[in-house]
Amino acid sequence: MRKYTITIFLLILPILIWAGVDQTPHNFTSSTYSKNAYFVGTRQVCVFCHTHHNGNQTLGAALWNHETNETQTYTMYSSNTMDMTQSAQPHKGSLVCLSCHDGTIAINSLNNLPGQEQAGLYGSPGGSNLDGSGRLAASSHAFVGTDLTDDHPVGITYDASQDIGNFQAKTGNSASYPDRLLSEGLYVECSSCHNPHDNTFSNFLVEDNSGSQLCLRCHIK
Ligand code: HEC
Ligand code: HEC
Ligand code: HEC
Ligand code: HEC
Repeated sequence: MRKYTITIFLLILPILIWAGVDQTPHNFTSSTYSKNAYFVGTRQVCVFCHTHHNGNQTLGAALWNHETNETQTYTMYSSNTMDMTQSAQPHKGSLVCLSCHDGTIAINSLNNLPGQEQAGLYGSPGGSNLDGSGRLAASSHAFVGTDLTDDHPVGITYDASQDIGNFQAKTGNSASYPDRLLSEGLYVECSSCHNPHDNTFSNFLVEDNSGSQLCLRCHIK
């Protein structure tokens, strides 16, 4: 019995380790992985976010292929108990996500379509969480919108010395804890808590949040 258990474990091990973005709700090529938000007639997984040539350089994000809107303004979180500096608008580590999750731009609106050096729409929208134009519908659980007042603050320059005793000290200069999680080595953004390629911990979290472990990487509570 034990032998079988080990064999089965060894067989599924590669799946556990190599579950990439294609096996997450960020694979929009069919309803298999993104049940309620997919594009009929598409085949490429990375292309919704990245391109090999002619990337959208406005945000300075890695070979970015999704349309962005530089004139979009967001209503930022506010509270009178915050001590750190909050920027007027989010930075790259959030803007890349919001380019789809604020619901203003079609998910399939790309800078460089596959096979052709031209911008446009890739495939046609399918699934109840997209509106007829391919934008995230307000009814989707993944819709964030442009009003960020009900979301964890982003656009914060992380500086524990502004709130001593309540935050872990970080310099942002290394990829291991306690420094990890800061976008561009400085900011708290969507990418502090989420990794858009990996859904191992569900909701694309960067790590398991049992016991609020993720929250305690920054907060001392
Ligand atoms: C839903 C959007 C999305 C999809 C799909 C996606 N990525 Fe990304 N990827 C991102 C974001 C966001 C970043 C961070 C960009 C930045 O801050 O510069 C990123 C960064 C990267 C980077 C550079 C940083 C790193 O993590 O190593 C590589 C390489 C990369 N992606 C490869 C891929 C490949 C290959 C695929 C397809 C198999 C893919 N991505 C699919 C959103 C996506
Ligand atoms: C190219 C568009 C696009 C980009 C860029 C993108 N997302 Fe998504 N994301 C989606 C869509 C579409 C869904 C599926 C929505 C649905 O089914 O209602 C989704 C789903 C999710 C979910 C829910 C997953 C689940 O299990 O239901 C989370 C969390 C998420 N995205 C976070 C992010 C974060 C954080 C970023 C940036 C690092 C990001 N996304 C970048 C389009 C995008
Ligand atoms: C401080 C950490 C943190 C930051 C920053 C953060 N999130 Fe999240 N997010 C979470 C956690 C934790 C969950 C899972 C909540 C749960 O288990 O229900 C989540 C869930 C989500 C979901 C799924 C929503 C749902 O209700 O099922 C989406 C979509 C999402 N986040 C997008 C974003 C975007 C976009 C940003 C940036 C504007 C962002 N997040 C910033 C921690 C964060
Ligand atoms: C990457 C670091 C980081 C992570 C991870 C993180 N936070 Fe935060 N959080 C901050 C920072 C920085 C602030 C702004 C603090 C300030 O300005 O005093 C903040 C603010 C908050 C606030 C608002 C405080 C106020 O004064 O209005 C709450 C509530 C909060 N976080 C809860 C959470 C929860 C719950 C989690 C886990 C899901 C979490 N945080 C994960 C860094 C983080």
